[in-house]
Amino acid sequence: MAKQTKFTFGLWTVGWLGADPFGSATRATISVEETLEQLKAAGAYGITAHDDDIFPFDASETERREAIDRLKLALEATHLKMPMLTTNLFSHPIFKDGAFTSNDREVRRFAIRKVLRNLDLANELGAETFVMWGGREGAEYDSAKNVVDALARYREAINFLGDYVVDQGYKIRFALEPKPNEPRGDILLPTVGHALGFIQTLDRPELVGLNPEVGHEQMAGLNFTAGIAQALDAGKLFHIDLNGQKGIKYDQDLVFGHGDLANAFALVHLLEFGKEGKSAYDGPRHFDYKPSRTEDWTGVWESARANIRMYNLLLERAERFENDPEVKALKQRAKLDQLALPTINSGESASDLRNSSEWSSFEPDEYFNGRGAGFVQLNQIALEHLMGAR
Ligand code: GCO
Ligand code: MN
Ligand code: MN
Repeated sequence: MAKQTKFTFGLWTVGWLGADPFGSATRATISVEETLEQLKAAGAYGITAHDDDIFPFDASETERREAIDRLKLALEATHLKMPMLTTNLFSHPIFKDGAFTSNDREVRRFAIRKVLRNLDLANELGAETFVMWGGREGAEYDSAKNVVDALARYREAINFLGDYVVDQGYKIRFALEPKPNEPRGDILLPTVGHALGFIQTLDRPELVGLNPEVGHEQMAGLNFTAGIAQALDAGKLFHIDLNGQKGIKYDQDLVFGHGDLANAFALVHLLEFGKEGKSAYDGPRHFDYKPSRTEDWTGVWESARANIRMYNLLLERAERFENDPEVKALKQRAKLDQLALPTINSGESASDLRNSSEWSSFEPDEYFNGRGAGFVQLNQIALEHLMGAR
């Protein structure tokens, strides 16, 4: 059936025990060894983690080393890879007003130091992508945060860390993860577009890309697939967080496809066939979801499998859609082939365009009461493929 895809899971995803602002945990913790065995059995290629998922914030040097070595052994035993590492810059009370952009300079310096240490660990574990999700970088009150200064501090931190990676010769790239809000009232770099703009202001823009998350763009009412297309266009899709979200509300982190299924179908089609019919992204398909707090451990592993199953089913449907001759004809009717052509002829000047002979036969009136685009029928057939009706 489906081709070999690299599926990865954050340790914090299946490791979430169900505590939310309204209730305590509903599951008891399990060992890292069991977690990795279960993920391997579910079909994972690898895992990812925050520093604090591996060892506690206040671990001594010895405890930290023990936890890292234990994780390495579990990785070896299961043959799981670790392609991405990230830093927890949001849980501890010191980060209540942010990390790189906290108003408190001591906190900002501590945050950079925490990341420096974690970059060494990423290098040690062979992780080539280093995600930066600035969940606490933001504010609730416009009067309490100078956003221009905060962005300057954000830039300063990333530039400094970029210099460190280059100086050390680490094979690591940064991936910024946008999110509009939660836990802060407003978060800096709230969408793919904001983050793309910011990256161009950095000293080493080539070192920094994006880790967009399905639900985060959808929380802002945006079309995730369209955002991913723009990230691909900019050469900035370094990593991706797959999950599900139903509309503009709190961050649901549902199983991939359990939110806006039609957009998930379009996303898989884009990732797998978006580059002239071939794969447009070859990185890991990373699930950043939360097994609902209604579930026991059986339900957790079922939900992990559900992510992979949804991706593979969507891949299968997208492949049929891509190869359906009727779809090819409908795409032609919808002029998608024309959109792929340059608008200006090669070597054509402005006066050539103005004086082109085509204007004598061009009939603007034909666009009234005629020349329909056929987009609805194309979408109908797409949805029929998604539903397995074709
Ligand atoms: C969220 C975020 C986080 C980050 C993760 C990486 O749901 O708000 O996705 O889960 O991805 O913490 O730093
Ligand atoms: Mn999320
Ligand atoms: Mn995420």
